[in-house]
Amino acid sequence: MNYRHAFHAGNFSDVFKHAVMAVLIEHLKQKNSPFCYMDTHAGIGQYDLMAIQAQKTGEYKDGIAQLLDAAEEVPALKPYLDAVRSLNTPDTLRYYPGSPKLARMLMRPTDRMVACELHPEDAQTLKSLFRGDRQVAIHHADGYKSLKAFLPPPERRGLVHIDPPYEDREEFVNLTRWLALTHKRWPTGMYLVWYPIKDRRPIKRFYEELVGSGMNRQLVCELNLNPDNTPDALNGSGLLIINPPFEADKKIRSILSTLEKVFDAKGKSRCEWLVGE
Ligand SMILES: C[S@@+](CC[C@H](N)C(=O)[O-])C[C@H]1O[C@@H](n2cnc3c(N)ncnc32)[C@H](O)[C@@H]1O
Repeated sequence: MNYRHAFHAGNFSDVFKHAVMAVLIEHLKQKNSPFCYMDTHAGIGQYDLMAIQAQKTGEYKDGIAQLLDAAEEVPALKPYLDAVRSLNTPDTLRYYPGSPKLARMLMRPTDRMVACELHPEDAQTLKSLFRGDRQVAIHHADGYKSLKAFLPPPERRGLVHIDPPYEDREEFVNLTRWLALTHKRWPTGMYLVWYPIKDRRPIKRFYEELVGSGMNRQLVCELNLNPDNTPDALNGSGLLIINPPFEADKKIRSILSTLEKVFDAKGKSRCEWLVGE
C-alpha cells in the first residue's frame, strides 16, 4: 500500500468528489429520519495543506485554492464550501476536510458514520481524529469486506462512499464485484463511487460490466480537465452514483459547469444515466 492521500488532498478531483458528496448528504437530510454514511476507503479524515506531503505536490493550489479564489459560486456548492471555509480563517487556507470529516461536519446528531481504512498508520490517525465521537465508528479494516458486515444499516437510509486508490490493476473488476454483491443485499442504498479517468479502456469495460450488472438508476458524472489522449495522466475525475436523489443530476451539472470554468477544462464533462429506472 503505497498510496497516501495527503499528497493529493484538495486537488481538482477531491473538489468535484466532495462537492457532489455534500449534495447527496444534503438530500438525505431533507427527511427527518436518520441516515448512515459509510466510507469504505476513508484516508486520514483531515489534511494539513501546509504539511510536507501537500506542499510537495502543490495539487491543492490547482484545486480547492482556485475554487475559493473564484468569484463564481453556485448554490449547489454551498454546503461543501461552507464546510471548507469553517475549518479555515477568512484569509488562510490550511485545512482540508477529507470525506469522513466532511460527512461528519454535515451530519445531524441522529446520523451515524462507519469508516474503514486499511493503511495501519492512516487508520490510527483517523481513529485519533474521531476519538470519543459516539456517532462515528472507525475500523482498521478492508473496506470492501466490511460492506457485508455493516450493510444494510439499521437506519435503512444512507450513502456508501467507495473511493479506492486504484493501485491495483484489478481495482475496477473487484469494485464492480463488491458493488453488485452489496447492491443485492441493499438495493435501495445510495452509492457514490470515484474512479480516475486516465486510460479509457478499463473505464469502457467498467461501464459494460455496470450495464450488465442488473443494477438500475446508475448516473455517471465526469469532470474532464484534459482530452483523452494522455493515458498516463489523471485527465479527469469520474463519479458513479447509484440511486441518486431526485434532481441531483441538475445540481451536479451546475457544479460541473462551474468547475469547468474555474479549472479551465479542456475536455468535455458529462452527467448522464448509464442505466435508467
Ligand atoms: C483515495 S484515498 C481516500 C480518500 C478519502 N475517501 C477522501 O475523499 O478524503 C484511498 C484510501 O484507501 C485506503 N485503502 C486502500 N485499500 C483499502 C482497502 N481495501 N480498504 C480500506 N482502505 C483502503 C488507502 O490507504 C487510502 O487512504
